[in-house]
Amino acid sequence: MAEIRPYYSEKGLTATFYDLTTAMDPSLAGDIEIYRALAPLGGSVLELGVGTGRVALALAEGGLTVTGIDLAPTMLVQARAKLAAAEPRVAARLILLQGDMAALSLAGTFDAVICPYFGLAHLPAGAAWRNVFAGVARRLKPGGLCAFHLPSAERMAQTPAAAPDRPVFQAPLDASGRQLSIFIHQRTAKPGVGRFDQVVDHVVVGPKGEERRARERITYYAADPDPYALAAGLVLDRPPIDLGGVGAIHVFRRH
Ligand SMILES: C[S@@+](CC[C@H](N)C(=O)[O-])C[C@H]1O[C@@H](n2cnc3c(N)ncnc32)[C@H](O)[C@@H]1O
Repeated sequence: MAEIRPYYSEKGLTATFYDLTTAMDPSLAGDIEIYRALAPLGGSVLELGVGTGRVALALAEGGLTVTGIDLAPTMLVQARAKLAAAEPRVAARLILLQGDMAALSLAGTFDAVICPYFGLAHLPAGAAWRNVFAGVARRLKPGGLCAFHLPSAERMAQTPAAAPDRPVFQAPLDASGRQLSIFIHQRTAKPGVGRFDQVVDHVVVGPKGEERRARERITYYAADPDPYALAAGLVLDRPPIDLGGVGAIHVFRRH
């Protein structure tokens, strides 16, 4: 039986193919523009769970100064490689740090704090979410905005059971005929406690049929962020912005 590793782990394949899969994910369409509009021209942004820099680099290219933190070395490796290849004026606007969004130890304040693509949903609601929102409130300038993209618990609970032999994603990797397929091996929903688990298989098949597989588990926690934001002294800035029908971006403001 294949070993199940945590998502983004060293021997997994999630981080390697993250940019390829997210680029083809219609449920993220338009998200970067929403985040870009939260900070003034030339302003500063803190991104929690910066990952491979998918959002952060685009914001830096648009003239914003971005600090991105992430827990996973595999994701930061990808982000740093992109940063090294970026134009110097863009690279100078992006700082990448390893750290936990629930224990922010940064100095300074930002015009906006963003947590795209279900970043906060990797942490269980409760103490961890309280710590995240308290840290965000401390790092925001007065009047600054923060945005959390979270999955919809209803939508996740309705997702049909996994069909482990039917790929949910397939794409050629290069001209040699290498192909990536992604399968959902197992899906478990506990809507009562807002916990949703998926065991995901990445399978790379080479031109001669040689195969590399990695099995990883991702857990999402879904909850209403409003009470956590209000407890941290933030206020709701606007109604949640639906993204692809599977989640929404929740925007709060510091007084
Ligand atoms: C789905 S990715 C999003 C990456 C990027 N923001 C984007 O939109 O493409 C979620 C990221 O959150 C990171 N993450 C999970 N828990 C974290 C924590 N406690 N502190 C910081 N980053 C965390 C993961 O390592 C992963 O890179």
